[in-house]
Amino acid sequence: MPWKAIGIFDSGVGGLTVLKEIIKALPQEDTIYFGDTARFPYGTKSPETIIRYSLEIASFLVKRDIKLLVVACNTASAVSLEALTKKLSIPVVGVIEPGARRAVSTTRSRKVGVIGTEGTIRSSAYTKAIKRLNPDVEVITQACPLFVPLVEEGWIDNEVARLASRTYLTGLREEKADTLVLGCTHYPLLKEIIAEVMGTGVRLVDSAEETASTVADILRSGGMLRPSSEKGNHHYFVTDVPAGFIRIGKRLMGGELGDVHQVSVEEPVMNEEMADDGS
Ligand code: DGL
Repeated sequence: MPWKAIGIFDSGVGGLTVLKEIIKALPQEDTIYFGDTARFPYGTKSPETIIRYSLEIASFLVKRDIKLLVVACNTASAVSLEALTKKLSIPVVGVIEPGARRAVSTTRSRKVGVIGTEGTIRSSAYTKAIKRLNPDVEVITQACPLFVPLVEEGWIDNEVARLASRTYLTGLREEKADTLVLGCTHYPLLKEIIAEVMGTGVRLVDSAEETASTVADILRSGGMLRPSSEKGNHHYFVTDVPAGFIRIGKRLMGGELGDVHQVSVEEPVMNEEMADDGS
């Protein structure tokens, strides 16, 4: 078991922020990263669709004999963690629970803000997870749908990003939350602008670090860690042509990615009409 890889998936390239923390915490581990770039984004899609995508990807990764699955995508963690946990016999780690834990231990005023995609905010997954840990913490949420395209475009430090941040975050700032959960893979890249808008009294919580330490704890307690003298290999699979993934990925990881393969995980659909007309 220790010699198997850790599987990680996201709707696209953003989950590399989580992979980066996992590699930092566990440099001896092999990893297989899956970015569903052809079906990106997940944040605007229905829970049913995201659950189907997540199960398809999990089945692809399990066939590659992983020992643990990390759902790096906040939206997928928010809606499909239960389905994945039921289906798989290996440990499944999402980013919501670790982020909620960090937020609860950070807040002093017991007022926590959470920002994420429409799908994540609609699911209330962060609110439920925070309330489970401490029912006295008040949670204020805000969807920030323009943040993902801004980051994908590399617009992380310009007037457009600043205006979008001000528009989305002014309400949260006025509510006087002292802790803000960056509940999306892409948001850590906007950290500086978000911090500028929120002001110095607000602590920003990024789930990636806490998720990596959860993964380390599970592997350690299950006797599944590789010896620390090893150096892990990292493989990448994407569902669209890899060029865009490689370009943004290099920026996120701060260096070359290694091998990136394009694959398909969708079952071919053939309906009766298509069969009849021979197309
Ligand atoms: N990875 C998604 C998340 O963390 C953001 C991008 C998307 O909408 O697919 O919620």
